[in-house]
Amino acid sequence: MKASLLIVDDEKHTREGLRAALEDRYDVFVAEDAAAGYALLESESFDVLLTDFRLPSEDGMKLIRRAKSLPKPPVCILMTAYGSEELAVEAMKSGADDYIAKGRLQIDELEMRIGRALKQQSLEVENVSLRQQIETKFGLDNIVGESPAMHEVFEMVQQVAPTRTTVLILGESGTGKELIAKAIHQLSPRQRAPLVTVHCAALPATLLEAELFGHEKGAFTGAHERRIGRFEQAQGGTLFLDEIGEIDATIQVKLLRFLGERTFERLGSNKTQTADVRLITATNKDLPALVQAGKFREDLFFRLNVIAIRLPLLRDRHEDIPLLAQTFMKEFADENSKKVTGFTPDANEALEAYAWPGNVRELRTAIEHAVVLCRGERISVRDLPATVRSRTPEIGASSPQSVLGSGELTVKEAEKQLMIRALKDCGGSRTEAAKKLGMSRRTLHRKLHTYQLEKL
Ligand SMILES: Nc1ncnc2c1ncn2[C@@H]1O[C@H](COP(=O)(O)OP(=O)(O)OP(=O)(O)O)[C@@H](O)[C@H]1O
Ligand SMILES: [Mg+2]
Repeated sequence: MKASLLIVDDEKHTREGLRAALEDRYDVFVAEDAAAGYALLESESFDVLLTDFRLPSEDGMKLIRRAKSLPKPPVCILMTAYGSEELAVEAMKSGADDYIAKGRLQIDELEMRIGRALKQQSLEVENVSLRQQIETKFGLDNIVGESPAMHEVFEMVQQVAPTRTTVLILGESGTGKELIAKAIHQLSPRQRAPLVTVHCAALPATLLEAELFGHEKGAFTGAHERRIGRFEQAQGGTLFLDEIGEIDATIQVKLLRFLGERTFERLGSNKTQTADVRLITATNKDLPALVQAGKFREDLFFRLNVIAIRLPLLRDRHEDIPLLAQTFMKEFADENSKKVTGFTPDANEALEAYAWPGNVRELRTAIEHAVVLCRGERISVRDLPATVRSRTPEIGASSPQSVLGSGELTVKEAEKQLMIRALKDCGGSRTEAAKKLGMSRRTLHRKLHTYQLEKL
């Protein structure tokens, strides 16, 4: 397919001369001034714009500037009657890809230059897309998850990342909230601007306020210097407020205002600041419950909750455990220069049976522990932390029906599950549970001891 070329020149003979010379190789269009040229550029997509510098109302450089702001800008070449150094520099500044003095214009040289500029542009386009691919990989590639629940999370991330929408990330401790916040930033057009993270629970309310919004010198005792806040630091980028459920009423009001007007003031100043900042927040608290209890403003909750991404518990996505374990094992084997290559079947079984109340963070720490202790090439059950080995599942984590239905379970494991279930159904009463299970109270006690379930 021929490349398309737009020639803008007010002199008819130049225009038509160029058209005649170039139309074998290009799809040529012509315009006699900048306005007509721009109208064409807007209606069609051109590969090349060849424009005269001196045009009736608006000059060629302005036209180039406008052309370069189009979604798919053409390669732009500026022609001038007489060449001059300054003009050449100016042309480059307006975004021209090349510059040609008309006086010495030779058609084959022009063709060569057009070809060169086009090639250069296609290399750049290719580079941008390669870079984007790398960045996309970086964004989600270090987040492990094959389960449908995680796939849903990844899809949400990809959908919201390009926008400026406020995102609320929900999930229990260690489920990967911070990781997801980073991925959203990295996949967004703000990736080159800063991602600033603030752990709202880590500071007392007054300090947090100053931390977020900045302060002037003398704004409060201890404010010896003027300091810009996190909002200003995140200019053009993303501000991630972790543990948002912890912020007090004053900060809630300020956040609400920021979300409405994008404005705030530094503490001790009445000068209004604006910041172009995307807000991502996260919490492991039940925000609606905090709203109910009057501890969190409902209007702020609605503003933050435009898009909510809920991260699943690790025990609700068992299928991801082996993959995560493998990933962490490689990481820590490298870090500790150990030749650990896998897990024994009993280790795998223990990892899958455990309830992981601390979610992925707990799994990661457990694997670090195991890699460090591991003496062979494979991690065995004794390398795992004691808590994981005892594999005390949470009450009600799985029903006896599903337990008994799965053929891979040992009789002991099934018995253990049945006891947990019975105790739960009977509200923890040993006597009731024993009756339900058809065993004596003493037997139940003994078995609870054997299975380390006394605490239930
Ligand atoms: N899907 C995942 N793939 C790989 N690593 C993960 C994944 N989810 C979490 N992690 C790792 O687990 C640890 C905890 O994750 P993160 O800090 O994002 O959790 P969190 O939800 O913010 O926890 P908290 O509520 O305690 O702050 C980190 O080391 C993180 O890299
Ligand atoms: Mg966190």
